Amino acid sequence: MCGIVGYVGHRDCVDFLLQGLRRLEYRGYDSSGVVALTHGGRMQTAKAAGRLDKLIGRLAHSPIHGTTGVGHTRWATHGPATDENSHPHIGGDGLLAVVHNGVIENFRSLKERLEAAGYIFRSATDTEVVAHLIASYWEQEHAATSLTAAEMVEQNYEPLVRCVRAALQKLRGTYGLAVVFRDFPDVVIAAKLGSPLVVGVGDGEHFLASDSSPLVGVTDKIVYLDDHEIAVITADTLRVLHRDLGEKPADVRTLALAAGEVDKGGYEHFMLKEIFEQPDTLCNTMRGRLKPDEATAHFGGLNLSPKELRSVRRIVLTGCGTSWHAALVGEYVIEELARIPVEVEYASELRYRNPPLDDGTLVFAITQSGETADTLAAMREMKRMGHTTLAISNVVGSSIAKEAHGGIYLHAGPEIGVASTKAFTSQCVALTMLGLYLGRMRHLSPVQGARIIDDLQALPEQVRAALACDEAVRQIADKYAQCGTFLYLGRQFNFPAALEGALKLKEISYIHAEGYPAAEMKHGPIALVDENTPSVFIVPQGAVFEKVISNMEEIKARGGPVIAVTCAEGAATIGDLADDVIEVPTVADFLQPIVTAIPTQLLAYYIALRRGCDVDKPRNLAKSVTVE
Ligand code: AGP
Repeated sequence: MCGIVGYVGHRDCVDFLLQGLRRLEYRGYDSSGVVALTHGGRMQTAKAAGRLDKLIGRLAHSPIHGTTGVGHTRWATHGPATDENSHPHIGGDGLLAVVHNGVIENFRSLKERLEAAGYIFRSATDTEVVAHLIASYWEQEHAATSLTAAEMVEQNYEPLVRCVRAALQKLRGTYGLAVVFRDFPDVVIAAKLGSPLVVGVGDGEHFLASDSSPLVGVTDKIVYLDDHEIAVITADTLRVLHRDLGEKPADVRTLALAAGEVDKGGYEHFMLKEIFEQPDTLCNTMRGRLKPDEATAHFGGLNLSPKELRSVRRIVLTGCGTSWHAALVGEYVIEELARIPVEVEYASELRYRNPPLDDGTLVFAITQSGETADTLAAMREMKRMGHTTLAISNVVGSSIAKEAHGGIYLHAGPEIGVASTKAFTSQCVALTMLGLYLGRMRHLSPVQGARIIDDLQALPEQVRAALACDEAVRQIADKYAQCGTFLYLGRQFNFPAALEGALKLKEISYIHAEGYPAAEMKHGPIALVDENTPSVFIVPQGAVFEKVISNMEEIKARGGPVIAVTCAEGAATIGDLADDVIEVPTVADFLQPIVTAIPTQLLAYYIALRRGCDVDKPRNLAKSVTVE
């Protein structure tokens, strides 16, 4: 959701800015813009509502150049997606330009004050307040000092930092932001609070970005900024200043991402590539974590002793969207394997609840991006209440991963498609391993543990086999692509799989879809059933197979088309009851949501494709939702 890039160095910044914004497109946006500074005191901007190609077209027609600049992709929060509301926003009478991710909650009162002081607002955004606010401090400071660019360098840019800091102190809300100054074209000042920012360290150049993907291929040296930090970035220097701790050495780490991980690798869409990566991503999530000799799993980063883990009496799993669905899978699996009561809560609700949780409660924040605002807030609230909070996240160094007491990284590689696929299956597998680990500390026998390890080790190849349904699913997608409503139904472990299947379809094809526990369907949603409303049953063989078949009969009796996702044995029983059958391999019941996710992901993908939807960048959605 919104993206920031920046550059200071010896090259023309616009090339990097546009290439970086392209890499950030996956986050979701509806307008974009760049600003470039030259030494002649020129600060030029270009902005365009709509796709990045529109901005690139404008720049081809009226190029701008400079060796320092910042760029932005905006996902509208305050004011619609228009050229005027696109970032960068200008402060004062062309003194400086700001790009910003996050939300300034007190922008109205600040705006009133700035307007009263004569500042003219040209947009409906909250960000423009930041630009004018910094300008107002600069105008006070500059009137007193009238510094030249050379004097500013001598003073280590401190006067500019003072103005930015003074403005930040007035803001309530969240920001990742970057400021450039017309009269000081060799510096970018960046600041972070609740919205990620990283700095790439090059040779005689520095890069700025709201996540690491724009840096891939330009540098492998990365600095993750923390909340309340300000970075003063020139071509040759990087200073990191913390609000309370003063200047601190920049913690330069190695970025372990290869270019192949952030491109489509020959697939038509990132989503399809990520669906087909799942046999490998599941291996990566499990790598080094299964211990066959002890018939258990282990995790390097939980930062809790076996004794502490044995005293856990309750687990709370929280997250949003797909991560919340993975949490539901985790609830079934952990309760089954470890016999610990598990509660699953939407992060957006948990943050405002006051749940009476006892000592011995362990809270897991589940999140692909590690930046989801609601999940971060819920985790902070649980921490504040004194609970141990752990993260299950895919993004190393993300805010949630950093603030948690410990956690489990998914190691699924960057997920660029807005619709989460490989992160979901990796989350399910991480939670299953967690169930095994906690179960083996309690009642699970070595024999039971060893069987679960065998099941897990076989899983990647079974997922590979499930991917063979690709062509069959494509044909089914063609058949139903014009339907207006879908039901997704499953029970037990496959109830969350049904919810996730429905979410996938909604997100990328814009078709109304509802996921339900199959038996619950007759308490309301069955009223939706007619010959144009397909029901996708997630019904592999298992404890509730017969029950779900009865639910299938109920749909059939009302003329609704049935698509069954099942295993070979199930297919034989279902016979003609289903109009279409998609076969997946037989796996242990607690692993079924992982294998059945494959056809539902593909079904959503091919239906969306058939309907001409932008699969990787669905309307209105953002990859990581960094606002409440
Ligand atoms: C999944 O397809 C969605 N894009 C969305 O529901 C997502 O899972 C949710 O926003 C949570 O994101 P997170 O996992 O990065 O926290």
